[in-house]
Amino acid sequence: MTESFAPGVRVRDLTVVYKTPAGELPALAGVGLTLAPGTITGIVGESGSGKSTLALSLLNAVQPPGRIKEGSVEIDGLGDVVKLDGEDLRQVRGRKVGYVFQAAQNSLNPLKTVGKQLLDLGRSHDVADLQALVRDARELLGRMGLDGARVLDSHQHELSGGMRQRVGIMLALVLNAHLVVLDEPTTALDMITQATILRIVRDVHHERGLTTLIITHDMGVAAEVTDSLAVMYGGRVVEHGPTTEVLGAPQHPYTQGLIRAIPRLSGDIDEARALPGRPPTLGTMPREGCVFRERCPLRMDVCDTVDPAPVTRGERTVACHAVGHQVSPPRRKEYA
Ligand SMILES: Nc1ncnc2c1ncn2[C@@H]1O[C@H](COP(=O)(O)OP(=O)(O)OP(=O)(O)O)[C@@H](O)[C@H]1O
Ligand code: SF4
Ligand SMILES: [Mg+2]
Repeated sequence: MTESFAPGVRVRDLTVVYKTPAGELPALAGVGLTLAPGTITGIVGESGSGKSTLALSLLNAVQPPGRIKEGSVEIDGLGDVVKLDGEDLRQVRGRKVGYVFQAAQNSLNPLKTVGKQLLDLGRSHDVADLQALVRDARELLGRMGLDGARVLDSHQHELSGGMRQRVGIMLALVLNAHLVVLDEPTTALDMITQATILRIVRDVHHERGLTTLIITHDMGVAAEVTDSLAVMYGGRVVEHGPTTEVLGAPQHPYTQGLIRAIPRLSGDIDEARALPGRPPTLGTMPREGCVFRERCPLRMDVCDTVDPAPVTRGERTVACHAVGHQVSPPRRKEYA
């Protein structure tokens, strides 16, 4: 029943705004991102950088007070999902694009057993062989260290947060969607279980020939399971490339700061330094110039007025005036 078709995804010029008392403000500002077919892409970035908004956009599922204002999300075989609505969109979600939204451990129906919800899901997507669906669900749960039959007979309140999170992952995979979007899928799990579950996600990804997007706060997780890594800041993808290259030789000052803040990636506990300052919120996001400039050690005059456009060289894309298109050697600007 598994046809091997891993779709490519191309997000272009995506702007998503949320309505606030101060008007509509952008949570994503002209984001571009390509997911190569068959790869696992990670998205990292501090809280509020727009990771979940981007994940929701891949399913055209941004809810009011938010809306996709501009841009496109082309998925091979589906076209531009931003243009889909109604029944077309419902068919895509789950069947073509499997997903776990953030806080998925709270998204089960409290009144129905997991098994009943699984059957509802199967029926709503016209799955012909419901028995095979249940078998597949049990097998996935078993691989994730759970008693599949028992879990399917349980209600939400009978399961721990970590168990519910694994149910969420099972539901994202069980319809054999070939694009899978996982938004912080393992936050309720301890470190060891987290690593095990992500290894299983990676195994299933390879077995079924998927294209997978994993959003995480944890650079360690990203390092272990992803092929390609996108770093988000202030509603922009500031750096994207092969994971080993982005982590081994980060080019954007924000990526460099993130990596320096993690002892096990920077390699020396004494050298680990927290990134100074805080990320912007929708209300404090600068309207012009580089959104990272308040925290950037390489800030130049041009950074105050011109938002750096992403520049792609080889497999790496970076949006920073100090990288790539050499605007004279970067002058350090003191602002202590
Ligand atoms: N429903 C909403 N109404 C208003 N603003 C919102 C809404 N949802 C998100 N935002 C804002 O949009 C920006 C991006 O939020 P988003 O949830 O995409 O970030 P995130 O990177 O997923 O953060 P986290 O790591 O905390 O999950 C944030 O500034 C957030 O406050
Ligand atoms: S564009 Fe300027 S402020 Fe922004 S990250 Fe690059 S050097 Fe720093
Ligand atoms: Mg989020």
